[in-house]
Amino acid sequence: MEPFKIKTVETIPFTTRAEREAALAESGYNVFSIPARLVTIDLLTDSGTSAMSDQQWAALMVGDESYAGSDNYYRFEETVRRITGYEHVIPTHQGRVAENLLFTTVLKEGDHVPNNIHFDTTQANIEHNGGVAVNCVIDEAYDPIADVPFKGNMDVAKLDKVLADVGRDRIPLVMLTITNNSGGGQPVSLENAREVSQWCRRHSIPFIYDACRFAENAYFNKVRGGADGAISDIVREFFSLADGCTVSAKKDGLVNMGGFVALNNHELATQITNMLILIEGFPTYGGLAGRDLEAMAQGLEEVLDERYLAHRIGQVQQFGQRLTDAGVPLVLPVGGHAVYLDAKRFLPHIPQEQFPAQALTCALYLEGGIRGCEIGGLMFAMHGDWPELELVRLAVPRRVYTRSHLDYVADICAKLYRERDSLRGLRITYEATVLRHFTARLEPVV
Ligand code: F0G
Repeated sequence: MEPFKIKTVETIPFTTRAEREAALAESGYNVFSIPARLVTIDLLTDSGTSAMSDQQWAALMVGDESYAGSDNYYRFEETVRRITGYEHVIPTHQGRVAENLLFTTVLKEGDHVPNNIHFDTTQANIEHNGGVAVNCVIDEAYDPIADVPFKGNMDVAKLDKVLADVGRDRIPLVMLTITNNSGGGQPVSLENAREVSQWCRRHSIPFIYDACRFAENAYFNKVRGGADGAISDIVREFFSLADGCTVSAKKDGLVNMGGFVALNNHELATQITNMLILIEGFPTYGGLAGRDLEAMAQGLEEVLDERYLAHRIGQVQQFGQRLTDAGVPLVLPVGGHAVYLDAKRFLPHIPQEQFPAQALTCALYLEGGIRGCEIGGLMFAMHGDWPELELVRLAVPRRVYTRSHLDYVADICAKLYRERDSLRGLRITYEATVLRHFTARLEPVV
């Protein structure tokens, strides 16, 4: 059961099918452009959508809005140091700024950055700075039904290949995304993180986590094997293997806005801090208010509670189980923050060039007022490289929806699966040159 009770409620919107039809057409068949007031269950993202606790709301009241040196920063710094073990803590207003600060500082034209799978903003930040983002996840990650417990793991042989191809001087750092969002929210094992760490040490290449969902990743290590003890100890052990991290606290920070870079390297931290002052703000607030730092520090503590994690991960697993029981094709095993529908198997009659995952995303909205997110060709095939997977991510916000909300979503998915032959593909009518999925417009293929 939920390890919390509800103090404040928010009414959710209900719409008619005609309203949803009109909203889809107006949005250019892109759910990013649909107003939230027309969405009944919003599973677009688990990012920045968490419900804060009473303690976090209380934390807002002790915000100290001094330009420099607010107490909230010191509490935040102490919390991040204790959780990660990293010395330098640089607040940012969200994860992609942390990435931007890191890559504008370390990347040179033509550098290669390996990761298990880069998240879209990470890839875009690397490419925008003239680098090449290379995905080195294990092959099983691309097989949606390979039921392996740590499907987010890095294939170290693929790191060897990048090294052999481009040489050590062209690899400014190795990243590891925990959990691996773009590959299904799959965890990385402690053992694998250790191997990556040893590889990086052997070649004197810095090792940095993209650690947005670090607590969920640690919990998986506890329940799927590989690590024992308190979640905070497992987390600390993970971080001890690397040189730093970029974090969007909009996930496991349990806040609506916030992020940070944490590092041990003093010189790199200094360079990044100088850049921070240029684009975000003074080093003791980043792009945030003092009260936001206080709520983030509190959220980072709460996320380590094992009861919270058992409910959180358990809720997503139950949601996946209900879909599996209805025969709906999913990425298995179910990951930490979302269920990923496998659109290639759901809609085998829609060719990849007609964006089956986007077609399914639109159908979910039309049928049930549910908003999911395409992670497939629309997101990744900008330069003609079609991704292996066509997924629809149904991300579960933290502490927001109850089991009956997710049962409703599962029932709509099952209905669409029964009626799948009637769904049609889409074609693009407008696209931007970077991160096109946010603003693209499409139309149905008739
Ligand atoms: N890295 C990962 C693994 C992410 O999942 C995200 C965001 C970011 C970096 C960037 O963080 O949004 O705070 O700038 N993921 C969100 C999502 C947007 O929906 O998965 P941000």
